[in-house]
Amino acid sequence: MSEQTLSNLMHEDRRFEPPTDLAADANVKEEAYARADSDREAFWAAAADRLEWGQKWDQVLDWSNPPFAKWFVGGTINASVNCVDRHVAAGNGDKVALHWIGEPEDDTRDITYAQLKDEVSKAANALTELGVQKGDRVAIYMPMIPEVVVAMLACARIGAPHTVVFGGFSADALASRITDCGAKVVITADGGYRRGAPSALKPAVDEAVTKLEDDELARKVLVVRRTGQDVDWDDDRDVWWHEAVDNASADHEPELHDAEHPLFVMYTSGSTGKPKGILHTTGGYLTGTSFTHWEVFDLKDDDVYWCTADVGWITGHSYMVYGPLANGATQVMFEGTPEKGRWWQIVQDYKVTLFYTAPTAIRTFMKQGREIPDGYDMSSLRLLGSVGEPINPEAYVWYREVIGGDRCPVVDTWWQTETGQIMISPLPGVTAGKPGSAMKALPGIAADVVDDDAKSVGNGNGGYLVLKEPWPAMLRTLWGDDQRFKDTYWSRWKGLYFAGDGAKLDDDGDIWLLGRVDDVMNVSGHRLSTTEIESALVSHPKVAEAAVVGAADETTGQAVCAFVILRDSAGDGGEDIVEELRKHVAKEIGAIAKPRQIMVVAELPKTRSGKIMRRLLKDVAEDREVGDVTTLADSTVMDLIKSRSTGAS
Ligand code: WTA
Repeated sequence: MSEQTLSNLMHEDRRFEPPTDLAADANVKEEAYARADSDREAFWAAAADRLEWGQKWDQVLDWSNPPFAKWFVGGTINASVNCVDRHVAAGNGDKVALHWIGEPEDDTRDITYAQLKDEVSKAANALTELGVQKGDRVAIYMPMIPEVVVAMLACARIGAPHTVVFGGFSADALASRITDCGAKVVITADGGYRRGAPSALKPAVDEAVTKLEDDELARKVLVVRRTGQDVDWDDDRDVWWHEAVDNASADHEPELHDAEHPLFVMYTSGSTGKPKGILHTTGGYLTGTSFTHWEVFDLKDDDVYWCTADVGWITGHSYMVYGPLANGATQVMFEGTPEKGRWWQIVQDYKVTLFYTAPTAIRTFMKQGREIPDGYDMSSLRLLGSVGEPINPEAYVWYREVIGGDRCPVVDTWWQTETGQIMISPLPGVTAGKPGSAMKALPGIAADVVDDDAKSVGNGNGGYLVLKEPWPAMLRTLWGDDQRFKDTYWSRWKGLYFAGDGAKLDDDGDIWLLGRVDDVMNVSGHRLSTTEIESALVSHPKVAEAAVVGAADETTGQAVCAFVILRDSAGDGGEDIVEELRKHVAKEIGAIAKPRQIMVVAELPKTRSGKIMRRLLKDVAEDREVGDVTTLADSTVMDLIKSRSTGAS
């Protein structure tokens, strides 16, 4: 990476010290780093000790056959017991586990830990009745309703690994996942609510079932009645949840499972090819997620925690279901999408204290203007988290000031479906936050930034992010494909996990994530990060959101092409907007980073999990036929952008 680029990235000199009270009473203090460094395994063993085990482990980590790790070898544990029974047994049965808020206003349910235990036990009995045995896979395709949490924990209870497929995915995607992991049973609902209207789910399951080639797959479909809409019914295959589960016994004797028993498979798209089935197992995953949830969010008994992720993604698994419930937390679960003001109304009404969301949402709120959140009392908040992509310094500062009342620390948490748990993040009671930097590897985690030869780049330089030591919640393999697991993550450099992200170390040794390595551009021999230029654009007062791609260019190798959405307050930006923004980028980063082309657009193409699909923008920038748009949340966005680009040229 060029000197010039780096020095510009690192000129961030704003610092936010931890609030004094939080620092004094923090769950994890500075000493944890040294303690973990001196004996990593003892550190994770202590974290595992926060859970309830049957048999204690004989060995913390078996790394004798890398990259296949085994954690807490010989230990036995049940994830569902840790997430529910344990809290009831400790006298916390009346504590609210879920404040569930439905999409239709006034449709709410508070579910205590005792109620959750009964529901999970009933569902476990019902699944057993349907023929699900330990080791069988169950696909879950549901909206954000409490039953999805019950279904996941019931599977965990009987040792049937679940694979949750995001409700926005198509019948094809569902069928391919059912096939890949060999799911015998599917749990779904008639539909869910989206933007106020019922939206069907069951027809996609029906269609998926017709595509399956093996009769053993999806033999039973368990259906929650949520919207009451009409559904087709197959008497042999389909079973209503309210008949099977509601009538089942609330007594269920849980079995203890091996620490390495598969807990779930989560599919994630590779940059190309078929989705990868990330396998997580029980003891290490539960240790990693529950410990980091307690550590990074500084969870206290009276906190009200809210993670806005959908349960169909890893964030929903680790930081809505397993981590928080294993910690006995009270949390908000919201079925709807973030319409103007609704989130802040919920924060106000439920006195949310810990809030975890994604930069894309924050930038959307910035675009709408601060008047909306300013209309609510959000003084209950004490900590804010960010996940999923780099958070631009301007979005970080806005989040801190407008949502966090300038008092809440922001934890920018880097991790992946593969890592299972948060890996790089500030510690809220220890770290002075720098906007834009995820800071340091957490205690017990070893991360570094290396060059092509696997050498540490050292402070002040950029390269590839790697993980150097195994960690408890790490993926164990790709479902049914050990070779692809090795090839994808472990083959680039011996003994190092390659995360696929570019990163740099600043002069203090703090880590800045630069996006996927394929998002790094090379312009006239200078390496430029898409994130860096996006941040520069977003720091302009007229810009709400920006996406940058490197497009092939005869002279410079690649050229910077930017797509921007203007803030509502900026109107059409004025006739010189493009030149104004190019100059702004040149001023912020240097002339080398000046976009060759800037297109003002109304929307950006995003996946259903909110990631910008730069590949498609690259097609537009390079004047090509636009590629596969099937994973877009809204596939019409590309038509709009294309018509805009043709009109502009
Ligand atoms: C990106 C989501 C910068 C990164 C938990 C990673 C981030 C990918 C951050 C994983 C962050 C996630 N800063 N980039 N705080 N968090 N990423 O599997 O590129 O959906 O490799 O997991 O998101 O996405 P995934």
